[in-house]
Amino acid sequence: MADEPRIFSGIQATGRKTLGNYSGGFRQYAATQEQGDGFFCIVDLHSITVEYDPRDFHESTLDVAALLFATGLDAERSTIFAQSHVTAHAEAAWLLSAVTSYGQLGRMTQFKEKADAHEFVSAGLFTYPVLMAGDILLYRTDIVPIGDDQRQHLELTRDIAERFNYRYGETFTIPQGVFPEVGGRVMDLQEPAKKMSTTLSTEQGAVYITDESDVIRKKFKTAVTDSEKEIRHDPEAKAGISNLLEIMSVATAEPVAELERRFDGSGYGDFKEAVGEAVVALLAPIQERYRELRADERELQRLLAVGAEKARRASEPTLEAMYERMGFVKAEAGRLFGAARPRGL
Ligand code: TRP
Repeated sequence: MADEPRIFSGIQATGRKTLGNYSGGFRQYAATQEQGDGFFCIVDLHSITVEYDPRDFHESTLDVAALLFATGLDAERSTIFAQSHVTAHAEAAWLLSAVTSYGQLGRMTQFKEKADAHEFVSAGLFTYPVLMAGDILLYRTDIVPIGDDQRQHLELTRDIAERFNYRYGETFTIPQGVFPEVGGRVMDLQEPAKKMSTTLSTEQGAVYITDESDVIRKKFKTAVTDSEKEIRHDPEAKAGISNLLEIMSVATAEPVAELERRFDGSGYGDFKEAVGEAVVALLAPIQERYRELRADERELQRLLAVGAEKARRASEPTLEAMYERMGFVKAEAGRLFGAARPRGL
């Protein structure tokens, strides 16, 4: 519908997805799709900016696609697609590089951090935020739900949009970022002062969405707590227990205060077991749907093709307008060899 806000989010195609990704990402996408016209893009073109294994990349892209559908995104209601299936993204990135400042790209914190961490620094790593700006701007996006670490990239996107609009005429909507409130973060089970992370957590510290039930139970049983006995939400003094309360709240949709009451007087052991069971119950139906989709690659491909078609239609007018306003000569298909062939040729 035209009066619904346009919402766009990009999901990385690589990395095993954790309970933190579920809480701060997948769960929000499914909720977001009720609030507007949602576009959820698996950003596979971004994945090749750092060293990667092509076979792993291929599989993890399909994994992420299956997870998006398994966690409740609806291919009819929303547009779920792979970035590389819509060529407008690569084209938009090139066009937008004309209105992106080299200096500003060099000041991106994520670029500096990743560049320091890798021996080979690709040109794509440097221009990564331009590709991201194109993702967002092609769809005239109003709202971008995004992690806190992406603030700078969103600011750059807004600068790029404004510079383009100023130079070539009003073309882009200036997008707004929506950042999750800090309370919604899932912390590492072994080191509750740290965020649960695909890249930084240990195997025991992170719960993966596709972990077997027994593995999940064990991870909760061995979760770090403290030397007190009280089940109370106090992230400063009791990081482990507070994290478990928050995870339980994500799994059962019960407010933390209610959970504190429910577990008042329980021992840590029983509490940890209850949290483990709640997470198993939360993930079981998601895992079942995920496995079905992963076993039926044709169905997964069909769902992605539906999304790609919708995304192409939605982005095409913007890309056309960009070319036109920038002064490109329009290619006229069939001019030489088609019906309109001039005499004498
Ligand atoms: N860079 C984002 C991240 O690391 C992923 C991303 C790519 C994205 N394109 C996007 C997010 C567009 C939001 C909108 O999380």
